[in-house]
Amino acid sequence: MSVSASAPSVSGPLTLTVNGSTRTVDVTRDTPLLYVLRNDFELNGPKYGCGLGQCGACTVLLDGGPARSCVVPVAAAIGRETLTLEGLGTPDALHPIQRAFIDEQAAQCGYCLNGMIMSTKALLDRNPEPDDNDIRDALRFNLCRCGTHIEIMKAVHRAAEYLKREQKR
Ligand code: FES
Ligand code: FES
Repeated sequence: MSVSASAPSVSGPLTLTVNGSTRTVDVTRDTPLLYVLRNDFELNGPKYGCGLGQCGACTVLLDGGPARSCVVPVAAAIGRETLTLEGLGTPDALHPIQRAFIDEQAAQCGYCLNGMIMSTKALLDRNPEPDDNDIRDALRFNLCRCGTHIEIMKAVHRAAEYLKREQKR
């Protein structure tokens, strides 16, 4: 999903909803959302990769849809729910998708995984039983330079299984 805003570049304070909490920040409206998340809110799940909207390392969900926070102005997140990796689970209580990626050892350097996991979350929310083509399509713009694509595909299938099991409980 591509998100943009043509809001004028004036100063904040701006109020955002991030991972269910209301947060305020004093920045210009065209500051990239990624900078606010990382520098002001200390949410370092989203990564700075290309900074050009091309690699997916910075992916967050805005109202449930994947967005590249390096090219989304912070003003575009006002009035919307921003979800970052930190909003999924904690080291003590991992989200099933995070558990699946660990169980499949789907990382080498791990730099792409924020984007892979957040895009997987968006995929499984709208399609709980994706096939290989669905997964390829959902993750096609998330780049992994280490080439762990096979493990990532397995991790998404495993995450779908974990989520299904949780729903049956
Ligand atoms: S850092 Fe945002 S798409 Fe690469
Ligand atoms: S695991 Fe290194 S970029 Fe994907």
